[in-house]
Amino acid sequence: MNDDGLTAASLATLANKRILLGMTGGIAAYKCAELTRLLTRAGADVRVVMTTAATEFITPLTMQALSGHRVHLDLLDVDAEAGMGHIELARWPDLIVVAPASADFLARMVGGQAGDLLTTLLLASRAPVVLAPAMNQAMWLNPATQDNLLKLRDRGCHIAGPASGSQACGDTGPGRMLEPADIADACAGLFVPGLLNGLHLTITAGPTREAIDPVRFISNHSSGKMGYALATEAVQAGARVTLISGPVNLPVPDRVHCIAVTTAQEMLDASLLSADNSDVFIGVAAVADYRVSDTSDHKIKKTADTLQLNLVRNPDIIGTLAALEKRPLMVGFAAETQHIEQFGREKLQRKNLDLLFANDATATFNSDDICATALWGEHGSQTLGPANKNLVARQMLTLIAERVSAGQPDA
Ligand code: PMT
Repeated sequence: MNDDGLTAASLATLANKRILLGMTGGIAAYKCAELTRLLTRAGADVRVVMTTAATEFITPLTMQALSGHRVHLDLLDVDAEAGMGHIELARWPDLIVVAPASADFLARMVGGQAGDLLTTLLLASRAPVVLAPAMNQAMWLNPATQDNLLKLRDRGCHIAGPASGSQACGDTGPGRMLEPADIADACAGLFVPGLLNGLHLTITAGPTREAIDPVRFISNHSSGKMGYALATEAVQAGARVTLISGPVNLPVPDRVHCIAVTTAQEMLDASLLSADNSDVFIGVAAVADYRVSDTSDHKIKKTADTLQLNLVRNPDIIGTLAALEKRPLMVGFAAETQHIEQFGREKLQRKNLDLLFANDATATFNSDDICATALWGEHGSQTLGPANKNLVARQMLTLIAERVSAGQPDA
């Protein structure tokens, strides 16, 4: 249990999930402020849809402040449709939770009505649905409501609650909405735990660029494909991912927090900040080893036949992080053109890493495929691929997850 009353498993599972909270009219709507806070603190992205009746009990402004997003109110809202339209919104969530779910709303859902935004979304979405009913005990016990509940359960909706006790209307009995932490746990229980559930991964990707003058730079052929594949697959495995990317021509993967950098120094600064709260750091980037010591402020003219550049060593990003007292699990890459395994193992030890993926530079840069040798400890090794970078990324993440749960021991 954490301070918020959520189980550790729920916290890990809710991270990075997209949850659409549908609120209908009922006094329990005030509890949705707390529910939203719990879900967002657990790392979920929450969008709120309120029926007109719900806005009588708590303001959309409150829900907007807590969710960090504009609240969706109307089906036929020109502005909202121009942003995230209702069909897009129906496709967006991993889960829809309706809380409080009033008796009237349940009846309208059973009838397949689509007269307002929330009922329309429920008809149009394929996401699993959790209903947290809240109503007067007599309304709850009424055969009509019970009948509706049975139908909704048969259709695959998950019913969370209600609890029993004293009610706002003065009655005592079943019909109180579950407490926010219990609803959050019920939501979390519907997700299949991933291999990297609850872990924060920081991944560097792509090349760095070191300026010679305002129009020229030193760089390399890294496309970013390997780092982006790892970021994509890590999110699929339940991780929260920060991707620190040099200049590449790839779209940012879904749900990945991407920090764009240009130089090795910028990549180091961003890495130090992110690694501080990361469980795993993966250095996939092909960092330029040197930069020009005296970058020209103006374009260098082609007057001489030769040009001499004075180069200085760039900071070793992964080496700097691996030397920190409190450090994440450190995973490196090494693209070599000869003695791949031998040079890779030397890098693993010299940089004090927990795991390293050695690969053939001539075959990996800018390719869709990779063949890598995973190296760890004194003797640990495993060949991965050759195969598509996404497929190999999944194998790499399995090895990383094993080392995380093993507490980073040697082989
Ligand atoms: O981007 P792609 O086209 O998909 O290509 C993938 C890749 C070839 C870039 C990738 O598979 C790879 O091997 N990346 C590491 C490239 C490399 O050879 O790095 P290195 O040997 O210079 O460095 C070894 C490790 O130290 C790497 O984890 C690197 O990120 C890190 N490093 C290096 C230099 C430096 N100044 N700071 C670092 O952190």
